[in-house]
Amino acid sequence: METDRLKVYWKNVLDSAVGPEHGLKQAELDGLAERVGRIVENLEAERQAGKMPYRDLPYREDLVQGVEAQTAVFKRGCENLVVLGIGGSALGNIALHTALRSPIHNLLPAGKRGGPRLFVADNVDPVQFGALLDLLADQLDATVFNVISKSGETAETAAQFLIVRDMLIHRLGVQGARRRILAITDARGGTMRRIVAAEGYASLPVPDGVGGRFSVLSPVGLFSAAMCGIDIRRLLAGAADMDRRLSTRDLRGNPAAILAAVHWMMFNKGKKLHVMMPYAHQLKDLADWFRQLWAESLGKQKSLDGQNVFAGPTPIKALGATDQHSQVQLYREGPNDKVITFLAVERFERDLPIPAAPPAGGEMAYLGGHTMAELLNAEREATEQALVASGRPCLRVIFPRIDESTVGQFIYLYEVATSIAGGLFGINAYDQPAVEMGKRYTFALMGRAGYEKTARQLREQMRVDAAYLV
Ligand code: PA5
Repeated sequence: METDRLKVYWKNVLDSAVGPEHGLKQAELDGLAERVGRIVENLEAERQAGKMPYRDLPYREDLVQGVEAQTAVFKRGCENLVVLGIGGSALGNIALHTALRSPIHNLLPAGKRGGPRLFVADNVDPVQFGALLDLLADQLDATVFNVISKSGETAETAAQFLIVRDMLIHRLGVQGARRRILAITDARGGTMRRIVAAEGYASLPVPDGVGGRFSVLSPVGLFSAAMCGIDIRRLLAGAADMDRRLSTRDLRGNPAAILAAVHWMMFNKGKKLHVMMPYAHQLKDLADWFRQLWAESLGKQKSLDGQNVFAGPTPIKALGATDQHSQVQLYREGPNDKVITFLAVERFERDLPIPAAPPAGGEMAYLGGHTMAELLNAEREATEQALVASGRPCLRVIFPRIDESTVGQFIYLYEVATSIAGGLFGINAYDQPAVEMGKRYTFALMGRAGYEKTARQLREQMRVDAAYLV
């Protein structure tokens, strides 16, 4: 297993690499070790007390068996799987799929896919959702709709679900609709759980105390993954392997602690933008998943003791090599306010040799005899070195290869890094109070009972002043 372990390389955030103004002093980092060690110990204690259920997801055999049982039922004859969800109820599903299935999965013939086509509908854009429903209209008998909502109340997911339910009942009847819907929601409470009970839909639980953005290793992410042929046991084994590396209070031995400490110290040095830049198409949606995890968890007005702290780095996703031609100019010469994390892959699952150039293309001759993976990795290394030369701090997360194990390791690593960073910022990393206000306003504008007063206030606030309209 050792050779397949994810590694974090952090030398290029030090002053020895990027200079004293922008780099961290080794002594500063060592000085933080005791505090980080205490945070790691506290997290372990909370976990033992049952207060961090996301930490135990790699070991929840009961949940895995539930997923496998429902997969066996729903996979039969299923050509299309549609996930209805948003935020933490969609981003992990997308990330797993992009990382671990073919980039052209949905275009492959059934026999080569290892599972249904996957569509994750994580918006309420009528043009986009309508087009998907049109596409599937003649294939409803071979389509499964997996509605995911922990709260069971989220407006976007509820609207999608109501449209789909209505369509299925009209087209396939009440029984037929039942065979095509699987809900993943809170085990006991919430509107969706009530609907499941009343209408007899199959369901899986979002485990108690596991928030959306920490739920990808629960049925939320596992069901669609298993349906599409991803080895979920190997994914969880990878997460468990990472878990064993994260309980040490030794800062330098704990990759999650290093990530959290470096980002927190850099934030305090004015580097408040945290870029994640994978050099692999397969990892691009893990950067999107990270973006939500980091932003919603760490972006908080209040500290745990009620002070205004306005904490929170801004996570940014970029993709190598594509964004070298879009973002790197800014990253090298713009404000030095970023930490850039490269996701590197040592061995790609396939490679393409680059043939010799024609006689007229002498300037391209250097490429011949190399491979595409060599070029991609050379570009990654070159970009990192160029950034370091400009005094830009860089981290690197190294995937020996991309498979279920390393993706499981990565997910668990960043979840725990987020918890430790939450401890350093002194905030609650598990709530999202600021998102709630927007949700309440939407309820008001859409006429939900009980929100009438808010609706009246909002209409007043929203009145457009023509003097400012050009
Ligand atoms: O991380 C979170 O908690 C959020 O992003 C939620 O996942 C998102 O708002 C969707 O919530 P729900 O699953 O309750 O529909």
